[in-house]
Amino acid sequence: MGAEPLEIHLDDRDLSRSLRRDVRIGLTAAAKWLPPKWFYDARGSELFDEITRLPEYYPTRAERAVLAERAVEIAELTGAKTLIELGSGSSEKTRLLLDAFTRRGGLGTFVPLDVSVSALAGSTAALAADYPGLRVRGIVGDFTRHLDRLPTGGRRLVIFLGGTIGNLLPVERAEFVAAMRAALEAGDWLLVGTDLVKDPAVIVPAYDDAAGVTAEFNRNVLRVLNRELDADFDPAGFAHVALWNPEQEWIEMRLRARRSMRVTVLDLDVDFAAGEDLRTEVSAKFRPEGISGELAAAGLRTERFWTDPDGLFGVTLARAV
Ligand code: AVJ
Repeated sequence: MGAEPLEIHLDDRDLSRSLRRDVRIGLTAAAKWLPPKWFYDARGSELFDEITRLPEYYPTRAERAVLAERAVEIAELTGAKTLIELGSGSSEKTRLLLDAFTRRGGLGTFVPLDVSVSALAGSTAALAADYPGLRVRGIVGDFTRHLDRLPTGGRRLVIFLGGTIGNLLPVERAEFVAAMRAALEAGDWLLVGTDLVKDPAVIVPAYDDAAGVTAEFNRNVLRVLNRELDADFDPAGFAHVALWNPEQEWIEMRLRARRSMRVTVLDLDVDFAAGEDLRTEVSAKFRPEGISGELAAAGLRTERFWTDPDGLFGVTLARAV
């Protein structure tokens, strides 16, 4: 059957427009920030894949352990005809589900959605080759904007893995969950992965690894701005910082100016004082009752909640009611 041509809901002009808007808002704010989605150009996607293999970065391994243990149960319970993956990246862990669905039979279509054309082009070709008989329909889109473009008809299972939901700010997250429920029909399923609250001594090194891969991933956003917006950031002028915020129960990545710098980007002169931070990501950690409560508020009933044996990472299977 093979991969179909990518369905593009986000072209280079949309991307460039939203990058420029985000940069203007974030870099003129009193506390400078950028949304994390701009990490993921081809190099950033590679660096992220490298992060997932680091000894300190437990979420990927922990989530994979849950999926390996529960894939058959997920396939049986949901009986999905269409599997849709939001923020799919390489879809590496998704293969555990595809294997279970393939053995069970009945899954017709896999729909990965991602902002990264390079990640999607690679994953759709590889998946189509490895799962003959599966229709692979890649969608280039933004999961905060394009949930109304998901294919309809047949029992659907939407998966949102990796703890990416934690990269949304609380207001964005509530909007996302509501939009997700609106995009589903009663009886459709949602599988969502969430990193769990735990000792910060475990969390912080996962975002500040000894080999410095996460630091390079963090600085990569400056390279993206230099290339896409002709900015003149000196990536080496910024130190990587990972900070646990105990009130919000999230980890923040920041880039801290090592000296005072003036950066030109768009029509802006952006001044950094020595020691000033640019927040590049929040990654919220969750408690089980928090997850099910947020889903319930939007009309998604939690049917199962699983963790890995060490209780590091949670996977929730919920159903639209
Ligand atoms: C897997 C995309 C959710 O928040 O852990 C990894 C990305 N950031 N190291 C996360 C990330 C820093 C990430 N997501």
